[in-house]
Amino acid sequence: MTRQGSGHGKDRDMRDRPGRADRTGREYDIVLFGATGFTGALTAEYLAAHAPEGLRWAVAGRDTGKLERLRERLTAIDPACAVLPLVRADVADPASLRALAARTRVVATTVGPYVTYGQDLVAACAEEGTDYTDLCGEPEFVDVTYVRHDARARETGARLVHACGFDSVPHDLGVHFTVGQLPEGVPLRIDGYVRSNATFSGGTFASALTQFSRGRQMLAAQQDRRRHQPRLVGRRAYAPTGAPRYAKEVDAWALPLPTIDPQVVQRSARALERYGPDFRYRHYAAVRHLPVAFGGVAATGALFAAAQLPPARRWLSGRLKPGDGPDEARRAASWFSVRFVGEGGGRRVYTEVSGGDPGYDETAKMLGESAMCLALDDLPETAGQVTTAVAMGDALTTRLRDAGIGFRVAATR
Ligand SMILES: NC(=O)c1ccc[n+]([C@@H]2O[C@H](COP(=O)([O-])OP(=O)(O)OC[C@H]3O[C@@H](n4cnc5c(N)ncnc54)[C@H](OP(=O)(O)O)[C@@H]3O)[C@@H](O)[C@H]2O)c1
Repeated sequence: MTRQGSGHGKDRDMRDRPGRADRTGREYDIVLFGATGFTGALTAEYLAAHAPEGLRWAVAGRDTGKLERLRERLTAIDPACAVLPLVRADVADPASLRALAARTRVVATTVGPYVTYGQDLVAACAEEGTDYTDLCGEPEFVDVTYVRHDARARETGARLVHACGFDSVPHDLGVHFTVGQLPEGVPLRIDGYVRSNATFSGGTFASALTQFSRGRQMLAAQQDRRRHQPRLVGRRAYAPTGAPRYAKEVDAWALPLPTIDPQVVQRSARALERYGPDFRYRHYAAVRHLPVAFGGVAATGALFAAAQLPPARRWLSGRLKPGDGPDEARRAASWFSVRFVGEGGGRRVYTEVSGGDPGYDETAKMLGESAMCLALDDLPETAGQVTTAVAMGDALTTRLRDAGIGFRVAATR
């Protein structure tokens, strides 16, 4: 599939990188799995509009009729999509996933909840030495794939990069960008404050409900990961849960945000010496008005409680169907901002990552750019389960900036 896109990624070296499983003979550079879903279709549209000349990509799913209808829509964006290859694969058929992984250099998947549907595809990519990206914000899944597939992926050279959407790209790359503004070799303290007015899709709602109902399994997976993960020697990298407080730095109430993001940031800090000898990150939702903060906490608590009861969970799942999501007008009115306050070596820096609709338009951009970054860019040699900052760092930040996501230094002291 070729197109004169926005320019980023165009004319990059398309050869395979030395030292990896030989993937030069593969049919595709990128296969997008789950392309018929809400976020998958937005990602396919993003690729149709921005894939550079020479990128060989395909869309995959379990329903060929749906894939054909998607291809018609993509052809309206780029007439060359009339011959976009369609790949049939079903999570209920692991052989189809293995065949998919063997045909491409990079897989991007939006088939979630990942804890329900995702394991076999990660296994296939680890076996085949295929780079893997997803939109997973489910800590249990990421911990389980680490224990099961990280070692094999290191052997085959596969890079397994979870959380390539709003979970956790702005936070992981935002902290990476902030660390870059601070002195080297000193203890660093960074706080992140997230604000947004956006809403969510049926797929995201299903993933959140699934996650809320699996607290015990999530804890067990976290403990198992700790047993397998090498200890960090001679440095510290931690991400404690902060206390709720009024944060005058951002003029808002700061509520601890127990998403996967602080875990991802902590993993980047463990892997990258540049984060210094003693690194701490705290992650908050920033809320201007106290009643809104109370409302948010109460609604999340109620959803969590309901998710524990199967009948209530079933009833809730029926409220927002798979494939549903915010319409174009709602997405166009949505925005996000993540402000970071970083300190170290006597210096204080304020940075911000910002953009439009976080969950879908910008997530499609983040996933599409992550896949193209893995396929096309000259990146550090990494393998196994790696974060976006470790696998792609500055290269992905540059791509996202070129694509309109703001990374800026607001002030330094
Ligand atoms: N972290 C973030 O920032 C972020 C943002 C957005 C979404 N997400 C996550 O992304 C995932 C997708 O969300 P969504 O709203 O796009 O969901 P969705 O609209 O329900 O799409 C799900 C996709 O999975 C496919 N699928 C389901 N079962 C399958 C099977 N057995 N074999 C093959 N494909 C199968 C569906 O195919 P059919 O079309 O054939 O049903 C569809 O393409 C969720 O886990 C969500 O949490 C994360």
